[in-house]
Amino acid sequence: MNILSKIVLGLLAILLGWFILVQTVGRLVRKLYPFPMPAVAAQWLDFPMRRWITDPAVVLERAGVRSGMRVLELGPGPGFFTPEAARRVGPRGRLACVDVAPPLIGKLRAKVRRLGLDNVEAGVGDACALPFDEETFDLIFLNSVLGEIPDRVGALREAYRVLKPGGTLSVTEFLFVLRGGLSGRDH
Ligand SMILES: C[S@@+](CC[C@H](N)C(=O)[O-])C[C@H]1O[C@@H](n2cnc3c(N)ncnc32)[C@H](O)[C@@H]1O
Repeated sequence: MNILSKIVLGLLAILLGWFILVQTVGRLVRKLYPFPMPAVAAQWLDFPMRRWITDPAVVLERAGVRSGMRVLELGPGPGFFTPEAARRVGPRGRLACVDVAPPLIGKLRAKVRRLGLDNVEAGVGDACALPFDEETFDLIFLNSVLGEIPDRVGALREAYRVLKPGGTLSVTEFLFVLRGGLSGRDH
C-alpha cells in the first residue's frame, strides 16, 4: 500500500470514528435528557443525499399514508417527508404539520409555498398540546421525533385524542430505510 492510500484510509477511519462517537454520545445524552434538536441543526435534515439512506416513499408507504386521508405530521422539521406525504394524500386529502420550533415551521412554510403544496398547512405547536379537535385525523406520523419529547406519554395521549377511532399512529426512529432494502424501526 502506498503512502497516499494510507493517508486516505486513515482519514476515512478518523471520519467514521468521529461519526460513531458523535452519534453514540449524542443519542445517550438525548436519551437521558430529551430535548428538541436545535433548529440550527435540524434545518440541515432536508438534504437530498439523505434519500440514499432514508427514502420518504418507503417510510410513508409503510406508515399507510393514502389518498384522501386527513394526516398529521408531528415534528416535520424543515419538511424532508412533507412533499411525499402531500403527494400521497392528494387533492382530496389534507396534511397538517406541527412543530415546536418556529424557525423550522418558517422553513417548512417556504418550502410548501415554493412547491405549491396547497393541501398542506403548517403551524407551531407542541405535540403534548395539539391545536385540534378530538377525532380529527385518519393517520398521524412521527419520524425521529418521539425521542426528543420529555413527556412521551403525554404526546401519545394527545395523538390518541386527535386520532379518529381506528386511525393509525406511525412512529419511526431513524436507522436506515432504503427502497426495498434495509429497514428502520417502525411500529
Ligand atoms: C430530529 S428532528 C426530525 C425532523 C423530521 N421529522 C425529519 O425526520 O426530518 C425532530 C423534530 O421534532 C421537533 N419536535 C421536538 N419536540 C417536539 C414537540 N414536543 N412537539 C412538536 N415537535 C417537536 C423538533 O423541533 C424537530 O423539528
